[in-house]
Amino acid sequence: DWSMPDYVEEAVANIRAQVGTDEVILGLSGGVDSSVAAALLHKAIGDQLTCVFVDHGLLRLNEAEQVMATFADHFGIKVIHVNATDVFMGELEGVSDPEAKRKIIGREFVEVFQAEAGKLPNARWLAQGTIYPDVIESAGSKTGKAVAIKSHHNVGGLPDTLNLKLLEPLRELFKDEVRKLGVALGLPPAMVYRHPFPGPGLGVRILGEVRKEYADLLRRADAIFIEELRKTIDPISNKSWYELTSQAFAVFLPVKSVGVMGDGRTYDYVVALRAVQTSDFMTADWAELPYALLKKVSSRIINEVRGINRVTYDVSSKPPATIEWE
Ligand code: XMP
Repeated sequence: DWSMPDYVEEAVANIRAQVGTDEVILGLSGGVDSSVAAALLHKAIGDQLTCVFVDHGLLRLNEAEQVMATFADHFGIKVIHVNATDVFMGELEGVSDPEAKRKIIGREFVEVFQAEAGKLPNARWLAQGTIYPDVIESAGSKTGKAVAIKSHHNVGGLPDTLNLKLLEPLRELFKDEVRKLGVALGLPPAMVYRHPFPGPGLGVRILGEVRKEYADLLRRADAIFIEELRKTIDPISNKSWYELTSQAFAVFLPVKSVGVMGDGRTYDYVVALRAVQTSDFMTADWAELPYALLKKVSSRIINEVRGINRVTYDVSSKPPATIEWE
């Protein structure tokens, strides 16, 4: 049993002792773990911390703006915002195999990160938002590499030539403790209590070949779904459906179906909505969302996102289905 203010003080003292006057870099993904690590490190070492935020063009709507507003504008943390959309989209062109897509995204992320890190000659440490469950998981794996830049994706790792020492200030914490720490450090609760978002981002939610046009449509459909989940309150628990689900998102299906709009015929794409409830993400049940909520989301997506004329709801549990579609 420990109190949060005492914990923060102790963690800050430990980081200062470990790092001294060295500089530290951190791959900031906007996810809970790397965000809390950034806030904690900034409290401990201020300007000695530089974060690198890589936008691969597969982020959710306004994600880059939100991350920059929170970290750079609000906290005054040094964040290098790398817009690498063209590089990622170029490398992904024509690739439709899910594993091949993940490998490309992982490899390109490492390249971009490495290039940025190379511009910071005085950085001696690479900070990561590794949390206790990651430590246990990777102890059981043969490679142990799963932890490397896990905040952004879990494919591959950084090459030894970077010559940086690892700094993992959250290694002893469970997820709920990380969230409490984030709130104590002043991060917005909406950021700290977010659903997880995979490192490959929309790359695994656009089935088959990734195209910018698909990503743009998906981002808008997904934002509508999330907005309605946040707005719709369950009267029994008094919680929003965003809080009542563990993960929820839209998936882009690159198939076209026929519809009618006004007195015209449409021939447009399909999105699937996915919402699950789970405690450990190893197994998951599809969420029994209220019909009224599904109805609202469907009609908003079809009316507001030109290019999508059909919305479906995924009623598959894990196993045998996975949470993501790729
Ligand atoms: P699945 O689809 O395997 O996903 O049921 C379980 C959880 O893991 C997340 N996920 C990932 N997270 N990099 C990540 O950081 C990845 O490559 C990745 N793939 C899946 C998924 O969103 C879900 O929370």
